Amino acid sequence: MTLAPVLHLQEHLVDGETRWTGRAVLEGRIWRDLLVLEVAGQLIGVRNRCPHRDMSLLMGRLDSVEGTLECPSHGWVLPLLGSELKGLPVKAINGDFFLVLDEN
Ligand code: FES
Repeated sequence: MTLAPVLHLQEHLVDGETRWTGRAVLEGRIWRDLLVLEVAGQLIGVRNRCPHRDMSLLMGRLDSVEGTLECPSHGWVLPLLGSELKGLPVKAINGDFFLVLDEN
């Protein structure tokens, strides 16, 4: 399994849900805006930037059933695992978060 640590983790409470923001280093580049959400008991890390106008998605409405996040700025509905947000599973180990880059 290949893991990338989530750095500078910050916890946020949004509409009664806990979310986290942070950074990660992927393929030698810093992924500065990472948003971690809990979806049906699983943690998923996505790019915290809307592809429309690059706004933060932290306050977006999560649809856990559809697996989407609605941008709070203009309402684009984005699949968490789609090409825009590039969602990856996140593993919590001893209070630290890691992006799962490869399950093998
Ligand atoms: S910035 Fe997200 S929909 Fe416009």
